[in-house]
Amino acid sequence: MAILELRGVTKRFGGLPAVDDLDLDVAPGRVVALIGPNGAGKSTLLQLINGLIAPTTAGAIRFEGRDLLGRSPHEVRRMGVATVMQRPRVFTSMSTLEDVAVGARFGGGERLREGPATEVAAEVLERLGLGARRDVSVAELTLHEQRVLELARALAGRPRLLLLDEVMAGLNPTELTAFVELVRSVRDDAGLTIVWVEHVMRAITALADDVVVLALGRRLAAGSPDEVMRDPRVIEAYLGRGAQRC
Ligand SMILES: Nc1ncnc2c1ncn2[C@@H]1O[C@H](COP(=O)(O)OP(=O)(O)OP(=O)(O)O)[C@@H](O)[C@H]1O
Ligand SMILES: [Mg+2]
Repeated sequence: MAILELRGVTKRFGGLPAVDDLDLDVAPGRVVALIGPNGAGKSTLLQLINGLIAPTTAGAIRFEGRDLLGRSPHEVRRMGVATVMQRPRVFTSMSTLEDVAVGARFGGGERLREGPATEVAAEVLERLGLGARRDVSVAELTLHEQRVLELARALAGRPRLLLLDEVMAGLNPTELTAFVELVRSVRDDAGLTIVWVEHVMRAITALADDVVVLALGRRLAAGSPDEVMRDPRVIEAYLGRGAQRC
């Protein structure tokens, strides 16, 4: 059974569909890469799942069989769905440990007290290799470290579904390799399900079990990374005029 199910989900902005009558099933424990040209609706789709935006027409979004529609981002988070957004959100006055402790405290199903939350945060930072930076202000972290911090904050809430939006953008090749390994270890450790928007093909082929291609808010293709990368419709969507909105 799918852990995440979408049925007939549509979101329009000013009449134009960003996500267009979309169905999607994600099986538990999979890493599903969501790819597609700029403006394909990938970030919109993640925000429909995590409750940041509401669909234009009724459809269904279910997580572990429970309806997510109409719930606030906070409720969705507490049900076990964590998101790392496309643009990093760093609370600049905090230390790395304090920042992740916020995720541990308020992110999970049960609210933790400060002490246990700090312990969870320290453990997650250690596991992700950022332990030595726990007392540094988040404003001093490098881009790579900020990406790891975002991942740590999400994981500190003990999610069962992790939504990642271009978390590898801007990393250099060495950092990219390290981040791929990190996501792999996180997946193996926690048995998480991951829906992951990414443009970095090397990372997708290294990590994704399944790839879903969106173009103009619709599913263009789906399959293994190999199958999808060879699909002429996918090549056309990336290179041809078919994927251009205007
Ligand atoms: N808040 C908004 N208001 C108006 N239009 C929006 C808004 N958010 C997204 N859109 C539009 O919806 C479409 C899908 O955008 P979305 O950000 O989901 O694409 P994306 O696939 O994530 O693209 P990228 O790869 O560039 O991140 C685009 O045409 C975009 O301009
Ligand atoms: Mg996006």
